[in-house]
Amino acid sequence: MYVLGVETSCDETSVSIVKDGKDVLSNVVLSQIDIHKEYGGVVPEIASREHVKGITYVFDKAMNDAGLRYEDIDLIAVTKGPGLIGSLLIGVNAAKVISLSFNIPIIGIHHIAGHIYANHIDNGMEFPLLALVVSGGHTELILMKEHYDFNKLGETQDDAVGEAYDKIARVLGLPYPGGPIVDKKAAHGKDNLHFPRPMIDSGDFNFSFSGLKSHVINVHHNMKQRQEEINVEDFCASFQEAVTDVLVAKTIMAKEKFKVKQIIVAGGVAANSGLRSKMKESIQDIPVYFPKMAYCTDNAAMIAAAGYFQYIRNNKKADDLMLNGQSRLNLEG
Ligand code: KG4
Ligand code: ZN
Repeated sequence: MYVLGVETSCDETSVSIVKDGKDVLSNVVLSQIDIHKEYGGVVPEIASREHVKGITYVFDKAMNDAGLRYEDIDLIAVTKGPGLIGSLLIGVNAAKVISLSFNIPIIGIHHIAGHIYANHIDNGMEFPLLALVVSGGHTELILMKEHYDFNKLGETQDDAVGEAYDKIARVLGLPYPGGPIVDKKAAHGKDNLHFPRPMIDSGDFNFSFSGLKSHVINVHHNMKQRQEEINVEDFCASFQEAVTDVLVAKTIMAKEKFKVKQIIVAGGVAANSGLRSKMKESIQDIPVYFPKMAYCTDNAAMIAAAGYFQYIRNNKKADDLMLNGQSRLNLEG
């Protein structure tokens, strides 16, 4: 089954064709990072306009790269939410045009289901499994007992991990998006600033990162006022160690409680080298999978992979053309 995926929920315009939820025939990602970098973060109005400019080219290239015609496509899967509403609407409407023109069934996908299914592309899924979702907008632990069955165990009470990375980077004078750069600098620094590990002993599966973020910003501010030398690498290493300690501790707690067979990590922060190594070092009794780097941050291959499983799980029931973007959307349905 050839599934055409479409993703435009934030600042990446992406179209992909994936066969049977696994074989990626094409995955075109047009990133707007260089445009938003100038403003230190994503500007929603600019993001929508850039999606409009790029979407036709991205569809054409994805079809050409896969060597297919629209007549060959069995299903269209498009991110319907959550995300920036103006951005979502561009992808949803483009997908609806192709659906209507070529009479192809269409379904709307939850963006986080896509991040989770990014793991299906290169790794298998064995249930029950535990998914740690860490992105710019989400930090959640999700238990899956079978395909397309999501049970949220806990989530951040305030900032998402990626968001905290981006804000810390800004204070340290590093460009947007902060995650990859803080990660690189952390590799050359020392965990010597003794930052707190928020909620590590809370006994539940929730997270909180805004207090840690404020703490880091205050320490930085105070050192600056005292004209002390600031070692950016040490700030990055200390922040990254604090964050990854909490993420790994909660994941281990959930793994033990629910006796899962595998752990998958999903979302942009799954690209983090500190998280990758700490998770693999700390959990050795069951497999821990991360998507390939290209499938960690936003892409349409993950949406096509999720679409295949959602369609099967719903007995091939398609959406109709009333399908629309939704800025807020619950994963559990
Ligand atoms: O999943 P994603 O592309 O978009 C959302 O759905 O939010 O995630 C983007 C987030 C950004 O906050 C970015 O800073 C973060 O993922 N990120 C990283 C790394 N690469 C991307 N955070 C930490 N370490 C990285 N290597
Ligand atoms: Zn995402």
